[in-house]
Amino acid sequence: MKALTFTEFGAASVLQYITVADPIVTAETVLVKTTYIGLNYADIYRRQGTYHLADHTPYIDGYEGIGVIVEVGSAVTDYAIGDRVMFVDVPLANAELVAVPVANVIRVPDLLSDQFAASIGLQGLTADFLAHDLAQNQPGDRVLIHGISGGVGQILSQMLTADGCQVYGVASTPAKQRLALDAGAEKVFLRHDDWAKDYHDYFATVFDGVGKTLPLSLQLTATRGRIVFYGMAGGNPPKVDPLALMQGSKSLMTGDLWDFLIDAPSRQKRAARLFGYVQRQQITLNVPTIFPLAEGAQAHEALEQGKVAGKILLQP
Ligand SMILES: NC(=O)c1ccc[n+]([C@@H]2O[C@H](COP(=O)([O-])OP(=O)(O)OC[C@H]3O[C@@H](n4cnc5c(N)ncnc54)[C@H](OP(=O)(O)O)[C@@H]3O)[C@@H](O)[C@H]2O)c1
Repeated sequence: MKALTFTEFGAASVLQYITVADPIVTAETVLVKTTYIGLNYADIYRRQGTYHLADHTPYIDGYEGIGVIVEVGSAVTDYAIGDRVMFVDVPLANAELVAVPVANVIRVPDLLSDQFAASIGLQGLTADFLAHDLAQNQPGDRVLIHGISGGVGQILSQMLTADGCQVYGVASTPAKQRLALDAGAEKVFLRHDDWAKDYHDYFATVFDGVGKTLPLSLQLTATRGRIVFYGMAGGNPPKVDPLALMQGSKSLMTGDLWDFLIDAPSRQKRAARLFGYVQRQQITLNVPTIFPLAEGAQAHEALEQGKVAGKILLQP
């Protein structure tokens, strides 16, 4: 099979599209022929050597995709050849074929196209656990999302709006501000404007996937409110003083999606909850940008340079 690989860490130029051995199908796996593979920030960190990466020679990036089952392991009873399935936490996904443990398989409802399902998978399940496992906001709560027009941000914003929250956000450009307002946000601040001084101690929850904004998030969070820290798209976060948190009875919560997708039932339950928002037309997405898997290096560069609004998909 063909795969997007690398043997050393570094810039996008280390990526090579080459022929490698097909994956081995064990008793409890299914072999998925991928139609689309989702590209995520974590793939950049892995290529740079700063994030957990499956041991493999050569390295193969990628953890989420959608496709059709072409082979089933001897112990698999719930799935058959021809089933359309997706996965969000399976390594070695930047390839034409991926061996997916049966517990990691997620069935795709008919109403979702391959492109839509591939675009919402990992970022949608992330938004779901941030909103429903960590923050647990009540209708009427005021919440703020940094990077509201990013992949997770867009989905989280629509999900919380549907949950009855008043959603505020921060974006870098007027075009991204417009995108978030059109998706239902109440107010969207421009990152470089001087807006924050009027919103100290204001939000029940601040969702921070940017990282270096943590001190600002602490100021914006209301007494007894919480900061949900889940990523560092803007660089490593500065240290947070626990005393500063305690003085306003503020809490810092964190989480990694993989600690919330621990078995087949937890994946299916969360996926069903996410797809429910789509079925009720409470979440829409802009059209994804598609690169051939062979041009994965250009896709990585586009993501790193913030050139693309919305999801980037790789097509084998
Ligand atoms: N904890 C988990 O389980 C988990 C799971 C998935 C993703 N994540 C993390 O969540 C974050 C967002 O992921 P994503 O897939 O949504 O990425 P994305 O689509 O690329 O969005 C990144 C967002 O970060 C904002 N941003 C980037 N640099 C910034 C800076 N210097 N200052 C302020 N904002 C900045 C961008 O804002 P603009 O668009 O306005 O420029 C963009 O909206 C990443 O850190 C990712 O690693 C965590």
